[in-house]
Amino acid sequence: MKTTIGITFFCVLCFSFFSSCSPNEKENSNASDSQFTLKIDSIVSLMTLKEKIGQLNQYSIGQEMTGPNQTNEYSKKRYNQLINGQVGSVLNLTGAENTILVQKQVMENSRLKIPLLFAYDVIHGYKTIFPIPLAESCSWDLLLMESTARAAAQEAAASGLHWTFAPMVDVSRDPRWGRVMEGAGEDPYLGAQIAAARIRGFQGDNLKDTLTIAACAKHFAGYGFVESGKDYNTVNIGQNTLMNVVIPPFEMAAKTNVATFMNAFNDLDGIPATANQFLLNELLSKTWNYKGAVVSDWGSIREMVNHRYTPNLKNAAKQAILSGTDIDMESQAYINWLEQIADEEPSIIKNIDKAVKKVLLLKYKLGLFDDPYKYSNENREKNTVESPAIQALAKQAALKSMVLLKNENSLLPIPLNKKIGLIGPLADDSDAPIGNWRARANANSAISLLDGLNQAFGASNVAFEQGCKLSIGENNFHEELKINESDTSGFMDAIDLAKRCDIVVMALGETAYMSGEGRSRSKIGLPGLQLKLLKEVFKVNKNVVLVLMNGRPLTIPWEAQNIPAILEAWHGGSKAGAAIADILVGNYNPSGKLTMSFPKNVGQIPIYYNKKNTGRPSSGPNQVFYTHHTDVDNEPLYHFGYGLSYTTFKYSKLRISKKELRLSDTLSVSIEITNTGKYKGKEVVQLYITDEFASVTPPLLALKDFVSVELNPGEKAEVTFDVSREHLSFYNQQNKWITEPGSFEVSVGGSSNDCLKTNFTLLN
Ligand code: NOJ
Repeated sequence: MKTTIGITFFCVLCFSFFSSCSPNEKENSNASDSQFTLKIDSIVSLMTLKEKIGQLNQYSIGQEMTGPNQTNEYSKKRYNQLINGQVGSVLNLTGAENTILVQKQVMENSRLKIPLLFAYDVIHGYKTIFPIPLAESCSWDLLLMESTARAAAQEAAASGLHWTFAPMVDVSRDPRWGRVMEGAGEDPYLGAQIAAARIRGFQGDNLKDTLTIAACAKHFAGYGFVESGKDYNTVNIGQNTLMNVVIPPFEMAAKTNVATFMNAFNDLDGIPATANQFLLNELLSKTWNYKGAVVSDWGSIREMVNHRYTPNLKNAAKQAILSGTDIDMESQAYINWLEQIADEEPSIIKNIDKAVKKVLLLKYKLGLFDDPYKYSNENREKNTVESPAIQALAKQAALKSMVLLKNENSLLPIPLNKKIGLIGPLADDSDAPIGNWRARANANSAISLLDGLNQAFGASNVAFEQGCKLSIGENNFHEELKINESDTSGFMDAIDLAKRCDIVVMALGETAYMSGEGRSRSKIGLPGLQLKLLKEVFKVNKNVVLVLMNGRPLTIPWEAQNIPAILEAWHGGSKAGAAIADILVGNYNPSGKLTMSFPKNVGQIPIYYNKKNTGRPSSGPNQVFYTHHTDVDNEPLYHFGYGLSYTTFKYSKLRISKKELRLSDTLSVSIEITNTGKYKGKEVVQLYITDEFASVTPPLLALKDFVSVELNPGEKAEVTFDVSREHLSFYNQQNKWITEPGSFEVSVGGSSNDCLKTNFTLLN
């Protein structure tokens, strides 16, 4: 869809300050931040207070609504702000043509001609959609995630965008929370590695490169721990969880020079993240020496009034700027109040100046002062967006993201001569796979599973019945597809088909908008009539392959117990159907491993592998007074790190280079891995460490490294990990990163619950 923007052309003559800077800027493509300081200082010295505040004002003017209370009308008031230098960045406007049009207004009309920044939620692709980030994390393939972020950046940059609000690096242990689809799962170490990979992908080596865009680590911090998984809810986690579980991916993002941070909607132990002095001033700015800009989340400055943390918007603006929130996204708090606040308290001008300088620095780094239109290039847009190479990458990413959960009696792969009955509401749905954060992708633009299977097995071998239907659900946002909850009229035809075919492939799960922002669920089993349909089908044909398409771990105990083969395909992006078919037919051997535990029921949540021992761990059967539920055991249905292959791997000969090491030593941990099955396959070998005891209670297991190996049948390889002091350290109660001597256990294997183990001692 093309945007129409109702701009009246005003002619305001401005003097051109920046034209004199441009030629020199071209030499500065690799300049460090400090080389811009003089230029930035001289611009700031020319700016009125209003213009400074303008640089901190961000609003949405695009085609899309990514938050509430947005008027789609491009109002005169906002246009006036734009041409008067009172807007520093906008979100949701895309396309080379549109961005040129709006940039021109700013460049031709505003007094200082400071280019606008165009931002957008490019979360898992721009027009070509990659698997949802949670799915991609299951590839454990950092290069892949770097490549998909780069490809998304290329499409977005060519379409005029400078800045994505990604990656979301929130660790979460609660699959009820709809936004787990946007993250990298439950583990802080893996989350940190993936955060770095995605940032490298979006940003490349040089922000001036028109094939890259600025990234944003979000949501700082604690958002993944909203109580009961309800979006925007209160967060109450202790300092130990904050520092050792939530913070590591953010710290890694800062180290990887992510261009910006976004704070979060939630309060954290009583203080909203948007005005959280500890997070923003102490940790981010002082401890990590982070120099990039911090943007608020949509309306989160205003929402501090709802949090009852501030009496009004004016006070909210003051709290936010004082805490280090530099850019106000959609609260209109800074633009309406900062001037008056500065009149009353002139000392706040230094906070405003500091924030403005960060915004200008980003614009310099992106090269916008050289050429404000450099990203918006219609030719490049035409050639880059949905290019064959990017499309091929989407398929690769989908293949690598899927996780084989069960494959009894090697039901998979399916021989080509079998008659397949494809059943389920998501079977010929080309919308669910593109997921919730679909950016500029069109609805219904993915390859459906039906199309994929027709291609792989030949249309004459595939018959399809929907079984239960999709229906349109409405909310105040837009129409969304849901799984119908009452119409069983398609059951009979589905059952008939199941009786006639050799193998039933059932495509069940969640529609695109059943996960994502604002889509928390209290029950996370298969929605609607799907389980009922599955049970009916299973009664007449036991050869059922369940293909799950969903945005979060689901509770599927009956399915796991009864259905012989289960493939977790997630919302797999533009090429999902083709990738699933390739896996079902055996063209690709699945290699994904779960990055979030699957609970047996909702009562087990939060459930995660790196749990604590507690004072009352179980020591045998029939106990009463220990940490457990009386109606379900303590194990998840599927563990973190788990995932099958069409082949099998055997781990043996776990060795360590020494039994005792000093703080400065490195320990070599090696293990032999053999492909004991019939297919070539890839395995993610995982290394975990357990601190036997520590001055803050340690997790029972903590992932510290991993590597992928690909082996032919019968082939073996030795994998070696180097363990050093860093892997044995943690944040203590004083927020110091420390290492304590003592005994450690090292575990290596193909899943967090299936490892070989040995011990060593760290000496004083
Ligand atoms: C709110 C979301 O929380 C955030 O992640 C997103 O970037 C903004 N809306 C902008 O769309």
